[in-house]
Amino acid sequence: MNFSFITGLQKRGKTQLLVLPIWEGPKEAADLGVLKDAIRPALKDFKGTLGEVATCYVENERILLLGLGKQEKATVEALRKAYAGLVAAARLKQVDTMHLLFPQCKQKESFLRGMAEGVLLANYSFTYKGASEKTPPLLKSIYWIDAPKTQILQRMEVIAAGVHFARDLVNMNADDKVPIKLADIARKLHPKVQVVVFDKKRIEAEKMGLLLAVNRASVHEPAFIQATYRGDAQSQEHIVLVGKGVTYDTGGLSLKPTDGMVSMKCDMAGAATVLSAVRTAAELGLKVNVTAVVPATENCIGSNSYKLGDVYRSYSGKTVEITNTDAEGRLILADALSFAARTLKPTCLIDLATLTGACVVALGDEIAGLFSPDDALAQELSDAAEEVDEPICKMPFHVDYKEAMKSEIADLVNSFASRDAGAIKAALFLHEFVGDIPWAHLDIAGPAYPSKPKHYYPVKGTGFGLRLLISFLEGRSA
Ligand code: BES
Ligand code: ZN
Ligand code: ZN
Repeated sequence: MNFSFITGLQKRGKTQLLVLPIWEGPKEAADLGVLKDAIRPALKDFKGTLGEVATCYVENERILLLGLGKQEKATVEALRKAYAGLVAAARLKQVDTMHLLFPQCKQKESFLRGMAEGVLLANYSFTYKGASEKTPPLLKSIYWIDAPKTQILQRMEVIAAGVHFARDLVNMNADDKVPIKLADIARKLHPKVQVVVFDKKRIEAEKMGLLLAVNRASVHEPAFIQATYRGDAQSQEHIVLVGKGVTYDTGGLSLKPTDGMVSMKCDMAGAATVLSAVRTAAELGLKVNVTAVVPATENCIGSNSYKLGDVYRSYSGKTVEITNTDAEGRLILADALSFAARTLKPTCLIDLATLTGACVVALGDEIAGLFSPDDALAQELSDAAEEVDEPICKMPFHVDYKEAMKSEIADLVNSFASRDAGAIKAALFLHEFVGDIPWAHLDIAGPAYPSKPKHYYPVKGTGFGLRLLISFLEGRSA
């Protein structure tokens, strides 16, 4: 999408749609200049409540009044939602060019950020539909009238492109992102990003026994992807982001029922988000050193499946008795986290994973779970999330529940006898593999792939977590 600027309502040519934002309250406050008389009738019963819309025509030009709610109550997130709704409505009307009058307000930069973000995040589509059924077209050009000219818009465009990139990876067919194909996508991430991929032979040589176990029944070999952007050569700081890369999760021998499996091409959303974060950091030129680490495999069922009751040795040396092959995410993350901790000298380690259904039960599909024994890192991530309105919730890191991980024949079991506190116990399992490095785990099983579209989130993949990671990296940026 292309953003341009115009000064003054008078100077512009006609467009497919002119949008006039209206605050709730006395209409005299709205500065609509020459248009005021023409739209006065339409304004009569327009209250200006948040998200309210009305259309009218002035000299054959379609004009849309957009309610923004009470000015003193306006938030960036409310504007994001209002402008996302506007884009959805415009696209349905086959509009591809709009003029957007910037509203009178004090918080010019942050409000512009909210509006632009709402517009950009809603201007997304991914479809395998044939040509017979039309999906609403994307907007091509936006002309901002009387908006502050800032760097914000370019930055928002880069970040939105990062969100779209993550969404695309999640939405594409599982067959198109099997580990080797995902690795090829990673190799082309960005010219400033160095990528190292371990193939099956190297993964065997490294003795990543858990990743190899999960991979066994798949006809597609695993890949272990590392993508590094060094934006600050002077600094020793190295942020390592680990993303669960199960490109399809059948559950294995602990086979998922049909209803639970339909969405499982989303099980690499963590991988999509961390790869996109490194790409976006490079594109923004952030002064940080950051590596995305992705253990990638399918979790299939077959005569070569890894088996319940058998014990496998992890990269760390700890042995794991398999009590549920559907708890595969923690297994491949265990190998990735201990590999990262041991060889990449991380100053902080953050993993993102569609890890447990239990987290969705606890928090629903709009909130991610945050698990960490490190209060400072948890606070930093919570602040980053709040900054961009991606809701996350700190969950208790209750180490006494580790009791349930005991195995009679191995160091740990991968799934616990009872189902309670499933998301916390999964996090505690991961903790066994990170050592002393500041670490946090985000369980994004809910918000990565919700069942319904909402506001600026389209159907299926949302790209959740990308904006929060960028906000976190910017905070760490020198
Ligand atoms: N990929 C799933 C978790 C998931 C569920 C992601 C719903 C997205 C939406 C994960 O591998 C899984 O199956 N976890 C099990 C763990 C259990 C066997 C301990 C679960 O949550 O049921
Ligand atoms: Zn699973
Ligand atoms: Zn899974």
